[in-house]
Amino acid sequence: MKILILAAGLGKRMNSKYPKVVHKLSGRELINWVVETAGKLSNDVAVVLGHKADIAKEVLPEWVEIFIQKEQLGTAHAVMSALDFIDPDDDVLILYGDVPLISVGTLEKMMDVHRKRGADVTVLTAIIDDPTGYGRVIRDEEGKFLRIIEDKDLDESHRNVREINSGIYVFKGISLLEALPKVNNDNAQGEYYLTDVLPLLENVETLLTDDPVEIMGVNTRKQLAFLEKILKERVIERLLENGVTVIDPETTYIQSTVKVGKDTVIYPMTFIEGHTIIGEDCEIGPMTRIVDSEIGDGSKIVRSELYMAFVEGGVSVGPYSRLREGSVLRKGVRVGNFVEVKKATLEEKVAAQHLTYIGDAHIGKGTNVGAGTITCNYDGFKKNPTFIGENVFIGSDTEFVAPVRVEDDALVGAGSIITGDVPKGSLALGRARQVVKEGWVYRKRGKR
Ligand code: UD1
Ligand code: CA
Repeated sequence: MKILILAAGLGKRMNSKYPKVVHKLSGRELINWVVETAGKLSNDVAVVLGHKADIAKEVLPEWVEIFIQKEQLGTAHAVMSALDFIDPDDDVLILYGDVPLISVGTLEKMMDVHRKRGADVTVLTAIIDDPTGYGRVIRDEEGKFLRIIEDKDLDESHRNVREINSGIYVFKGISLLEALPKVNNDNAQGEYYLTDVLPLLENVETLLTDDPVEIMGVNTRKQLAFLEKILKERVIERLLENGVTVIDPETTYIQSTVKVGKDTVIYPMTFIEGHTIIGEDCEIGPMTRIVDSEIGDGSKIVRSELYMAFVEGGVSVGPYSRLREGSVLRKGVRVGNFVEVKKATLEEKVAAQHLTYIGDAHIGKGTNVGAGTITCNYDGFKKNPTFIGENVFIGSDTEFVAPVRVEDDALVGAGSIITGDVPKGSLALGRARQVVKEGWVYRKRGKR
C-alpha cells in the first residue's frame, strides 16, 4: 500500500508566517505526527508540499518522497500533482498533514474493511458534537452514502448533520486515477475537492471511528491548543496507569515523547518535554522545566531548569538550579540554589550548593565547590577548559581563570583568583594578604 499525505495548503486560518504543518503539537511538527504513523504502515510514503515548501521540507525525514503542488487549488488538485506516485494496481491511503492524531490501529481497521468489501474507496468518518468547519457526510433514507458537502457549501437542511469526513480515505489506485480528472471546481471556494471523487465511484464504504479525537483537524490555533490539551491529558493518564504520581495534572505539562519510571512523583507546575527519560523513585518539581534530558533513579529536581542534561541516580538539583546542554551529573552529586552548569561533568558526589557557574569543566569525584565559585571560561574569543581533580576543596568565592588545572586533594583558599595550575595535595591562595592596622579607626576619627 502507498500512502500520500496532503500538506500543501496555506493554512490561512493559522494566521502564521510558517506553513501550517510545521507547527508543533506536543513537541512534534503536525506533519511528522502523520509521517511517523504512515511509516509504521508502509515504506512507500509521499508528501505533497506547496505553500512555503522549503520550510516544510526541512522538518521532514529523508525517506519520504516529496511532490510539489505549485498552486493550491484544492485537495483533488493536490493528489493530481502526485499522479506518478499512484499505482493503478495498488491501494493508496490518503492522509491530511493537519490531522495529526490518527492511529495505526484505526488505519489498519479501515484497510481491513476496504479489502474485505472490495471497495473503490473507504472513507473514515466520525460523529462529533460540533461539526462546524468539516465536510458533512450526506446519506439517503436507507443510510447509503451519497456524497460529502463542504462546510462552506452547506445549505440549511444539512447544517445539523453531525457525521463528518475525516479527510482520510483509502482508494483503489485505478478507481482514483479514473475519477480524478472528472472533478470540477464548481463550489463556494472554487477548489477541486477530493471529496467530489467519491460520488463518481461505485462502491463507497465508510468506517465510523469511535475516537473522534483521532480525526480532529488543526485549522486554527484554537484547535491546536485543544489537541495539545487532550494529548497532555492522555499522556498524564498513561503515566498514572503506569505507576507515576502526578500531584496536580491540571498544572503539569508532559509531552508525548517523555518516559517516566514507576513511583516517581511529579509536583505541580512542572513541564517535561522532548526526549526526556526520568527514572524510578524520583521527585520532580514543583516549578521545574526539563527538556531533552535524562534523569536516573531516585534523583530529586526542585524548582529548576534542565536542558539537554544527563543526570545519574541519587542526584539532588535545586532549588533554582540551571543545567544547560552537556551537563553531566554523576551519582550522588548535589547542585543547589543559583548554580548554573554548562558542558561540564561533575563526577560522583561533587557538591556545588550555592551561587556558582561551572562551564567547560571537569570536576573530580568528591570535590567540594564552595559558594560563589566561578569558572571564567570565556576570554572574549574562545571558551577554555577548567580541570579540577578528585577530593579537592574549593573555598568560597573562588574564580578559575581558564585554562587551568587543579590536581587531586588540593585546597584552594576562599576568595582566590586561580590563574595557574595547582599541583596535587597543595594549598593555593590567590588573593591579597590581609593587613591589620591596630587602632587605626580611633586614630583617624579621634577618640570618643
Ligand atoms: C478537508 C475536507 C473536509 C474534511 C476536513 C477534515 C476537502 C475538500 N475537504 O477540509 O471534507 O472534513 O478536511 O479535516 O478535502 N491541501 C493541499 N493542497 C490544496 C488544499 C489542501 O495539499 O490545494 C492539504 C492541506 O495542506 C491540508 C489538507 O489538504 O493538510 C486539507 O486541506 P484543508 O484546506 O485544511 O481542508 P479542510 O477545509 O479542512
Ligand atoms: Ca483541515
